[in-house]
Amino acid sequence: MGEETTNTNTNETIIKLEEISKRFGYGDAASYALKNFNLEVKRGEFIMIMGPSGCGKTTLLNIIGLLDTPTTGRYLLNDELASRISARRQARLRAKKIGFVFQNFNLIPDLSIIENVSLPLVYSGYHKTRRLIKASEALDRFNMKEKEYYLPFQLSGGQQQRAAIARAIVSHPEIILADEPTGNLDSRSSATVMEELKRIHSEGNTIIMVTHNPALTSYATRVINMLDGTIDTDIKTVKDSDLPVPVERKTPRKIFKKRKKNKSKKKKGKK
Ligand SMILES: Nc1ncnc2c1ncn2[C@@H]1O[C@H](COP(=O)(O)OP(=O)(O)O)[C@@H](O)[C@H]1O
Ligand SMILES: [Mg+2]
Repeated sequence: MGEETTNTNTNETIIKLEEISKRFGYGDAASYALKNFNLEVKRGEFIMIMGPSGCGKTTLLNIIGLLDTPTTGRYLLNDELASRISARRQARLRAKKIGFVFQNFNLIPDLSIIENVSLPLVYSGYHKTRRLIKASEALDRFNMKEKEYYLPFQLSGGQQQRAAIARAIVSHPEIILADEPTGNLDSRSSATVMEELKRIHSEGNTIIMVTHNPALTSYATRVINMLDGTIDTDIKTVKDSDLPVPVERKTPRKIFKKRKKNKSKKKKGKK
């Protein structure tokens, strides 16, 4: 292990749900998609969520992803009370911290792949050219660079999902939420997508993924089974202390020091 790696933040809690309930409808028509739901997620976990259709998996991801708000309960994102902040601030937080991958890819049909991937960077403050460069780099990571100027319909399902994953990670969010990302893919494309998610996870990112495929749970560090809006079983297969440590964990100061060190090494070498 490199001497610069510090491992002190491994067990940091990144997401905390306290007694979250989500009700749809009112009066006699009221039903609960989530009931007094509690969950604590550590940085670097790869959680797979399973459970029958209608048990609340998508509702859960939408609440964690700030796309929906709970009816009651508290949601803490990095210790900040996310369930009670303005919609505007939620949108900002979402853009900065969370990347989404959906079952049906959700690419915008009349935008090229590179434009689709650059969309989350609208909040970044980067100029358009810079956004396209970043998008191109993200696509390159997924071996999709040669498809940059294609439209979504010109790509296979697997390629569209790889583009969608490039879009999810382009702004370097620390949390990736994936709702049945391999649900519409053949087994080969599914394996490719899982390998990409594995790589993103190994870099210290936190992933929460919904799946119906029990075979995929081998990628997870924790498997949660839901039933009727609550947790039925919750099993960690990797100890918190063994979760991957984020690459960007190094403080700017440390990186600066390291650069300086390398520089002085180079100088010495030259002499
Ligand atoms: N927008 C909505 N309006 C009314 N009911 C909803 C809405 N979204 C979800 N539900 C209901 O909440 C329950 C959980 O849905 P969902 O979270 O989509 O389940 P899952 O993703 O596990 O299939 C279901 O009974 C569903 O019908
Ligand atoms: Mg769903």
